[in-house]
Amino acid sequence: MEKIKIRSLGVFDEQKFKKLGDERNKWLESGEDMLINTKDSKLGDLVDIISPSRLIVTVKKVLKENDKYKSIILSSQGKESLAPFRAGQKIAITVNVEGIYYTKAYSLTSSPMKVADGEYQITVNDTENIVDHYLFNSVKINEKFAITAPFGDFYYEPLRDEDNVIAIVSDKGIMPIYSMIQAIVDGIENFNLTLFYSAKLESDILFKEELRELDSKSTKVRVNFVLAEEEKDGYLTGYVSTDKIKSVYRDGETSFFVAGDEGLLKYLDKELEEFKLPKKFIRYDSFLPVCNIKRVVKYNLGIYVNGEKFDIPCYNNKTLLQAIEDGGIYIPSKCQVGVCGLCRSELVKGEVKIINDKRSNADKKFNYIHPCSTYPLSDVEIIVR
Ligand code: FES
Repeated sequence: MEKIKIRSLGVFDEQKFKKLGDERNKWLESGEDMLINTKDSKLGDLVDIISPSRLIVTVKKVLKENDKYKSIILSSQGKESLAPFRAGQKIAITVNVEGIYYTKAYSLTSSPMKVADGEYQITVNDTENIVDHYLFNSVKINEKFAITAPFGDFYYEPLRDEDNVIAIVSDKGIMPIYSMIQAIVDGIENFNLTLFYSAKLESDILFKEELRELDSKSTKVRVNFVLAEEEKDGYLTGYVSTDKIKSVYRDGETSFFVAGDEGLLKYLDKELEEFKLPKKFIRYDSFLPVCNIKRVVKYNLGIYVNGEKFDIPCYNNKTLLQAIEDGGIYIPSKCQVGVCGLCRSELVKGEVKIINDKRSNADKKFNYIHPCSTYPLSDVEIIVR
């Protein structure tokens, strides 16, 4: 039998390892700009096998969480099994409303353990968004929907994150963290999580009783509710200030997970400055900032899909993807925050404003855009790739 030599790691190995990041960045920068098309390649086929791009699911149950939120349990059809997910990930769901297809991403709010029962759970509220509105008001038991496989990197990764995690959330930001807490209690994830859940009033808190119960089941989970406009026993008051955070912060051993509305994110930007943390210690759930444009201007969007051209209206306060969906044209989309690249299209004419620009250098050079995070500033023409 062949002998295997085992050598213990020394200080030079550690130094070499630390340099790997810089070397990788230099190597990436030295590469040629070129476009990679994974759709028509063996790599694309492999990706589809590991993580199927679309799956049909059925609505199994609808649960009323409170006056504002409902949870929808989606189950796999027949023998088709659901893809596993990491607590904190999302799926995108496509609904047909009066003949037009709309897609929206939702954080999974169930434990990854429920995949074994063939279930995903999402939680929705009634907003101006057509998918939210439809799912909250009109969804029916046994109704079928197309969904994507789970995606996103807002989950705990032991190689990257410290095992003392402080999660600070508001509003819908609780959803990915609720899944993480269930995963810890179920023994699927192994890290310590202290939650600061900021809300105006007690009645605004989603999953309140469930979170209290999960807290009581595990020494790894601590749940704190922080009320900004109410004083009550068993609740912290005010905002998630540095003082509150310091009580559980361990220098050099803490990662922050932040998810919530823009107000919370702006507030925390300042509040967390005091800890002087490198970026990698603060993880944000991705979102697209609210568009506050006051003077709405209408433009024309010329869009080529499979060689056919359509002309539809678009507006400077709506993304190109919203205009495309409102125009009754379906193009694949998933994250809807400019990250996954699924809606990637070539800009052939016009001026645009790109928010949350996560495109590769090659895509920037060759004028590829993500319509889900792009606003028109003139008449625009794009080719959907
Ligand atoms: S849907 Fe992900 S980049 Fe547009």
